[in-house]
Amino acid sequence: MDVVGVEPGRVAEASGGRFVTFEGPEGAGKTTQIARLRARLESTGQAVLVTREPGGTPLGGALRSLMLDTGQLPLAPIAQALLMSADRAQHVASVIRPALQAGTVVISDRYVDSLYAYQGFGDGVNLGSLKAISLLATDGLLPDLTVLLDLEPSLGLARKRQAHEKGVSELNNMDRRPIEFHQRVRGGFKELALAEPSRFVVLDATAPADILEWRIWRSVEAMIRVR
Ligand code: TYD
Repeated sequence: MDVVGVEPGRVAEASGGRFVTFEGPEGAGKTTQIARLRARLESTGQAVLVTREPGGTPLGGALRSLMLDTGQLPLAPIAQALLMSADRAQHVASVIRPALQAGTVVISDRYVDSLYAYQGFGDGVNLGSLKAISLLATDGLLPDLTVLLDLEPSLGLARKRQAHEKGVSELNNMDRRPIEFHQRVRGGFKELALAEPSRFVVLDATAPADILEWRIWRSVEAMIRVR
């Protein structure tokens, strides 16, 4: 099924950098693994930029709070998709692409696959339309590698709730959606990965952090060697 098939020739950027994204349902441990990957890359002397969506630019910060802060009015799914895409357009133009052109490895905590999984599979926005919007927003920039940390949503949400109860982090509007929504999101991510096996590496997020770190590092090293 060509859900989000790669546009031939659009992946490879005419730049020295590499673009790695992390995806997955809530509470899958992306933050920990991104920090570990950054440390490994930096220890080899590689310039690294860690960023995130939504929120990797000043515009993104404002959009993020409009979309995710509790107390905000609920957004129609298409409005949310367009705001997420506006955030992404600004992020690609002002942060990601310039860094790639400077030879940096850019690691983004979420990118376009989150749009397909949450607004598409989760909320039922038409995937073909999301793909068209994304082509415009990103000018065709796709990651060289996408790490999908797969997790049963009830486990991830329980992790987030515990952190919330300890005062470590807040629960946002997405975290408060019903479990069925999060299950559709998880299934969506898996389907996206199946459609593009050469871009995705899918890992079981319940594995010990050291093992995940090693598996991610092997994939990143291989990706760096290829280009
Ligand atoms: P965040 O607190 O960053 O959650 P996480 O730590 O799980 O990444 O919140 C980002 C939320 O925004 C997350 O629930 C996924 C959602 N999202 C979308 O719905 N669409 C998108 O295009 C992106 C990038 C994120």
